[in-house]
Amino acid sequence: MKDTTKRDILKTNETQKCNTSNTNDIQKCDTSNTNETQKCDTSNTNETQKCENSKISGIFKCGAPKTNETLETIAKRYSCRAFYPDRSVADCDLAAIAAAGLRAPSGMNRQNWQIITVKNKELIAEMEAEGMRVLSGFEDKSVYNRIAARGGRLFYGAPCLIMLSVKEAFPNGAEMIDLGIAAQNIALAAASLGIANCHCGLAAFCFAGSKREEFKRKLKFQEGYECGLAVLLGYAKEQSAPHAIDCNKAVVIE
Ligand SMILES: Cc1cc2nc3c(=O)[nH]c(=O)nc-3n(C[C@H](O)[C@H](O)[C@H](O)COP(=O)(O)O)c2cc1C
Repeated sequence: MKDTTKRDILKTNETQKCNTSNTNDIQKCDTSNTNETQKCDTSNTNETQKCENSKISGIFKCGAPKTNETLETIAKRYSCRAFYPDRSVADCDLAAIAAAGLRAPSGMNRQNWQIITVKNKELIAEMEAEGMRVLSGFEDKSVYNRIAARGGRLFYGAPCLIMLSVKEAFPNGAEMIDLGIAAQNIALAAASLGIANCHCGLAAFCFAGSKREEFKRKLKFQEGYECGLAVLLGYAKEQSAPHAIDCNKAVVIE
């Protein structure tokens, strides 16, 4: 069977599932019942996504939302918080992931970032220890306690990370939008290759203490660049389901 035909059939099946003449599906996905709308059974990822797709279809009054490899990657991405420390990511995968970051759009194409792949496990451990030390020194222990409750590892055992350093742009703050877009390109590229990942804003704490300059030097930050955001990479020891989507945030203006 040709692929397109298979896809069309799949789409038709999905459309049928969204058809509101089917009472079971109405019960699962009816958008007129707000409580039910909020709840898709999250115990089964495929079922959850089918249910979420039905709700989106309801909002757009259409058949099943289209899908393809890119959209499936977006749907399956999740933040991994338990990596196998000894399962490294191959260089050809890292190269593809870094290139995806470099291909991100940025305002006026300014590219005020560096995409720094850190494979050195001793350096990662040093950064993690410093981040935890800095966090433990804050009067407000909420972040420290949150990480401690998750095993006390800022980087969750990831054998590799990509640090995105950033340089201030005009208008001030716009560079952070560019940075987030590049980081998400990285996360999606990794997910598409089956590599678990997690954005890590808390990596900034590694640069918030006395080792700031040392780490900037070791990570080869260019002049004027500061720590922006890290993306942890590796293979998942424990997988999580993608977060539930909140269809109330999707609005259509006819
Ligand atoms: C800018 C940014 C910074 C983040 N920083 C951290 C972090 O430091 N540690 C962490 O465990 N997760 C971090 N996350 C992951 C979020 O907690 C996660 O995306 C959110 O809970 C939704 O879950 P999901 O990614 O599995 O869909 C960050 C996400 C973003 C977008």
